[in-house]
Amino acid sequence: MRLADFALERYFARWEFAVRHLLCASDVEGWPLAELLALADDETRAAWNDLRLGYAETPGHPLLRGEIARLYEGLDTDDVLVFSGAEEAIFCLLNVLVGPGDHAIVTWPGYQSLHEVARAAGADVSLHELREADGWSLDVERLVAAIRPATRAVVANVPHNPTGMLPTPAEWRTLGDACAAAGVRLVADEVYRFLEHDGRAPLPAGADLAPSFVSIGVLSKSFALAGLRIGWLASRDRGLLARCAAFKDYTTICAAAPSEILGIVALRARETILARSRAIVSANLSRFDAFLAERPAFATWVRPAAGSVGFPRLAAGLDADRFAAELVEAEGVLLLPGSAFGHPGNHVRVGLGREDFPVALERLDAFLEARTVGQGRAATSRSS
Ligand SMILES: Cc1ncc(COP(=O)(O)O)c(C=O)c1O
Repeated sequence: MRLADFALERYFARWEFAVRHLLCASDVEGWPLAELLALADDETRAAWNDLRLGYAETPGHPLLRGEIARLYEGLDTDDVLVFSGAEEAIFCLLNVLVGPGDHAIVTWPGYQSLHEVARAAGADVSLHELREADGWSLDVERLVAAIRPATRAVVANVPHNPTGMLPTPAEWRTLGDACAAAGVRLVADEVYRFLEHDGRAPLPAGADLAPSFVSIGVLSKSFALAGLRIGWLASRDRGLLARCAAFKDYTTICAAAPSEILGIVALRARETILARSRAIVSANLSRFDAFLAERPAFATWVRPAAGSVGFPRLAAGLDADRFAAELVEAEGVLLLPGSAFGHPGNHVRVGLGREDFPVALERLDAFLEARTVGQGRAATSRSS
């Protein structure tokens, strides 16, 4: 298997720990360990204190799988398989699901492993392009028309990274019904689920739509615990989960034991955890909306409907790659150019999950001001 470099991860490897402000992170500001432990109940506090640092159970700690199952409508503990991050779940699942002669349809632009692992496993991959002119919406009719006899999986990331797209419940069910009717498995990457904006409800989880469908989840994004590296697959297709567990024997075998206990703590306190994440993201969403409204000559965006990222387009005359390079150099503020997704538009990803977002915006503002003044160009247009 030959994998192309993961462009976004290579970009983060270069910059993530070298800059002052990550204005493009997709996770929500991580919980301090002590504050998370303060949420433990008697059972999880004892499990933490008495933890033996041996190997953990391959499918995942039963209590953790039970708590994850509760995020779905009709799933049990055995319908969940724990991984080290959603990334490992994607890697194992796509290797198990597709190979030479198979076809997969994957939403794009998007998280590279969702299409690259399928391609490297030998599948023919069609990218379902989300278009800014359509409000980045999922075009269910176009997507379903791309299904072929060899199609094994439709892989949809909802809420979507990097656009913040969220289909309507009706669109989502139509897609699910069409996949089920065609005998095609829907794989729903739902790592941004529970971060819906403006009062929208979470979509029904993919795994709840049909017995063969699979949901991918993680504690990194909405649950603000990326450092735990706890992800999962959820599906009523236990045969598929068993094949993925067998594949995992060649990757990590089992998750990190301390992370599993902390994951149980977090999921039992999920309302507290999610309320904090939603508060951070929604405040930053309003801030960025106002920032753009005051600076139409900088960028415009389709306001994200869900998730912790958005994908504004820089004004003509500001090249996204160059702009990001100059901004990080001058102000230590990191934006992610759309080229990291292989996307040719002039977009950058903005992350809405960090607590230093207001400061990062101030630095971005100073950078825009300096360009206007220093270079005599109207890079900004401000009403105040
Ligand atoms: C859509 C999507 N899926 C999966 C992942 C992987 O999550 P993790 O790094 O926590 O494994 C990411 C991370 O950015 C993502 O955006």
